[in-house]
Amino acid sequence: MSLQKIIIAIDGYSSCGKSTLANELAKRLKYNYIDSGAMYRAVTLYFLRNNIDFTDHGEILNAIANIHLTFQFNELNKQSEICLNDENVASLVRDMLVSEKVSEVAAIREVRSFAVAQQKRMGKKKGIIMDGRDIGTTVFPEAELKIFMTAEPEIRVMRRFKEMYAKNEHITIDEIRHNLELRDYIDTTRDESPLKQAGDAILLDNSNLNKEEQLNIVMEWVKQKTVNQLI
Ligand code: CDP
Repeated sequence: MSLQKIIIAIDGYSSCGKSTLANELAKRLKYNYIDSGAMYRAVTLYFLRNNIDFTDHGEILNAIANIHLTFQFNELNKQSEICLNDENVASLVRDMLVSEKVSEVAAIREVRSFAVAQQKRMGKKKGIIMDGRDIGTTVFPEAELKIFMTAEPEIRVMRRFKEMYAKNEHITIDEIRHNLELRDYIDTTRDESPLKQAGDAILLDNSNLNKEEQLNIVMEWVKQKTVNQLI
């Protein structure tokens, strides 16, 4: 008997390991993993490349009409990678220039409507894990399993610093700390679907958990939810 497929929504602060957990879960469960943050990052990259004025709603709507976002499965790293108008931008969107502007862009109502509509369509067949800031509250309020992830701020800073330093040796810890603090502030205080824990989300603080430990905890939650589905 195969278990019924569910929707898993993972939300939380910047750099608390959402995508690591989501990737591992997707491999174990043979689910699709969608990194919703990559969509906002790709829109930001388009805005930066085309000098879009973030305050001009007409310009924003025109720009969005020219943006086509897709995910392409990379067989080598077994990950779905974001494509902006058919160009794979998975690596480019992680650049600091994009990180500096993404929360400003993600707070724009038109940008959110555009991304959320596409994200909702991706969940139609279930068997999906999506991570972001508003997945359990706005994109999939009906998700069977909702996880709200957090970790101590300084641990998050060091995790992101290690990741970024591997690509750019000039990056500093202060730059990373400032970026995470600023994004968390904008994400939690914006008007449009601010980051907050959904009432029915389970809190996962992974400050003192390694990848395997957090995966094991969440796999237990998945089992409980999928077994409950069959009753
Ligand atoms: O990897 P990290 O957790 O640092 O960020 P991300 O998931 O790539 O998301 C980048 C930014 O996109 C966030 O700081 C939010 O401003 C925005 N975002 C959002 O508003 N809603 C989502 N569902 C996902 C990301």
